[in-house]
Amino acid sequence: MSAFAYRNRILHAEDVDLAQLADSVATPFYCYSAATLVERFGAFRAALPDGALIAYAVKANGNLAVLRTLAAEGAGADVVSGGELKKALAAGIAASRIVFSGVGKSAAEMALALEAGIHQFNVESEAELAVLDAVARAKGVVAPVALRINPDIDAGTHAKITTGTAASKFGIALPQAREAYARAASLAGIAIVGIDVHIGSQIATLAPFQAAFRRVVALAEDLRAQGHGIARLDLGGGLGIAYAGDAAVPNVDEYAAMVRRVLEGHDFAPVFEPGRAIAAPAGLLVSRVLYVKHAPERTFLILDAGMNDLLRPALYEAHHAIVRVRATDAPARRYDVVGPICESADVFARDRELPQTEAGDLVAFLDAGAYGATMASAYNARPPAAEVLVKGERWSVVRPRLTDDDLLASDRIPDWLR
Ligand code: LLP
Repeated sequence: MSAFAYRNRILHAEDVDLAQLADSVATPFYCYSAATLVERFGAFRAALPDGALIAYAVKANGNLAVLRTLAAEGAGADVVSGGELKKALAAGIAASRIVFSGVGKSAAEMALALEAGIHQFNVESEAELAVLDAVARAKGVVAPVALRINPDIDAGTHAKITTGTAASKFGIALPQAREAYARAASLAGIAIVGIDVHIGSQIATLAPFQAAFRRVVALAEDLRAQGHGIARLDLGGGLGIAYAGDAAVPNVDEYAAMVRRVLEGHDFAPVFEPGRAIAAPAGLLVSRVLYVKHAPERTFLILDAGMNDLLRPALYEAHHAIVRVRATDAPARRYDVVGPICESADVFARDRELPQTEAGDLVAFLDAGAYGATMASAYNARPPAAEVLVKGERWSVVRPRLTDDDLLASDRIPDWLR
């Protein structure tokens, strides 16, 4: 059962009345359900092979309270910057459960991760390998490394979030993999521990995963035969969710069953990096309607949330279900749901059917817990939405909204302009 449900015709997050919460914290705000985070992580843990490292992708939602909630359930972390590494550690995730991904790690970030003693670096090029080797040797340590392989598989997802095709900047092309492993094996600061693949995000069918995983397993066995220490198989993240209620999107159990089939008869320690499938269903964005504007051909609902708060529709034409916080029997109308930002792209939905809605009404965007707050900006000098975590009947502001003065204070005027 969803943690977001109507009681007395008011949408609740667990036991918290969202209309009351909106009065307390002001809109717009993200609201996360701790129970849903635990349930979603638990679904992965229950379905995936025992002992698998589930390294939650921090980029999906890196709020410290979210990370801490997942850490308590045994989550590791997949990080892509020094900042995410520090957050994961601060949330109590052991370094030994952290993997460091990303195509452009700096030497300083590598040093930080080596000092922390992370589980593994997912390295994406020979150039990066050389820098990591030098940084590790300078510290007198050896960096545990998996090379990220680009299997040249189209994940069938939005072009902006596909990562596993030959044209993509990510990973080492399959035909170059053997050479890269030979190079890695020759470097004193590098210890080969495994192989890594991640072909994209919001993947809605199992076939591309399976094809990529089969290629990587075959390569891993090959590399083993050549004497490389391929103990771990990092299969990345990418499992999609049903934003528009599409029943065809595979669930965690189906994904895990496919993984087990591919791994059968092979002896690897699996690592997974799910982000969206854990965090997205655990969050809403709550916003208030500022104005209803009746134009000749369309009716606009102008919200107090904008593309600076939730970028996904503008960037990926992403669909988020939008519901009224107070259920109503008002007749259905069609609206263009838009934000206040001075950009034509600041549109959340076109021609969306909603019950007749007036200025002052509250709406909620569903499945906004992943890539919502983490992609927010202060564009138009708008402090991004606050974040609230709910657990049962308790709630807490886990990131207050910055004030205009906070934003103002972050700029500096040079002496020569004073
Ligand atoms: N591992 C790596 C190396 C990744 O690059 C990503 C996501 C993940 C794991 C987690 O993937 P997930 O399970 O969340 O699909 N901003 C976009 C999504 C970008 C995903 C980037 N990488 C969106 O809002 O749809």
